[in-house]
Amino acid sequence: MELYIDSANIEQIAQVMPLGILQGVTTNPTLIAKEKRDFQTLIRNIAKLVDGKIWCQVTSTEAESMVNEALEINSWAKNIVIKLPMGMEGLKAASILSRKGVETNMTLVYSVPQAVLAAKAGVSYVSPYVGRVDDTGWDGMSLIKEIVDVFQSLQVKTKVIAASIRGPQQVIDALRTGVHAVTMPYQVLLSMVRNPMTDIGLEQFMTDWNNANM
Ligand code: E4P
Repeated sequence: MELYIDSANIEQIAQVMPLGILQGVTTNPTLIAKEKRDFQTLIRNIAKLVDGKIWCQVTSTEAESMVNEALEINSWAKNIVIKLPMGMEGLKAASILSRKGVETNMTLVYSVPQAVLAAKAGVSYVSPYVGRVDDTGWDGMSLIKEIVDVFQSLQVKTKVIAASIRGPQQVIDALRTGVHAVTMPYQVLLSMVRNPMTDIGLEQFMTDWNNANM
């Protein structure tokens, strides 16, 4: 089971990496843009906080430039996973990069056929966007379950990482489908840690302890 925080925010990453439960950080152009910092500088600073994988999406639109951009990003830190947008150009870039031994992820995956072609192109991971599928009225969890089942029946090595997660229960539901990994926003991770009953119980323990030891 691999868990990632879906963030490019240094403060959030610095707070959660010491938990020792995350395999790294996933980012995308929107998350990077939110930080209003130079892409390379931001990734290098994130790499100082993260022992695990750092997922970075290319912004080029043609396969050749995607490959060149990927090789440049790959040089910024160790354990980079290059995110490629699903499509003809992304598939071409994935085939080239996988032959070069570059770890890649096919992102913006919304169907089993897309996932199968991405796996055939040699990507290490595919990212079905659970939350965004749900937003359209379809069932995101069914999508990832189907991809997991097809990959298992085809004995595909490519891993499935559930993305676009909106809450703690979606993390659990996704893991129940057999996905290899889940990436979640900072607030979702905090919601998984915290529970009001835990806080109430701890407060009572400390009150009883302090009263007895006054
Ligand atoms: C992975 O990093 C995806 O880009 C991300 O989970 C998308 O999440 P969103 O649908 O909340 O933008």
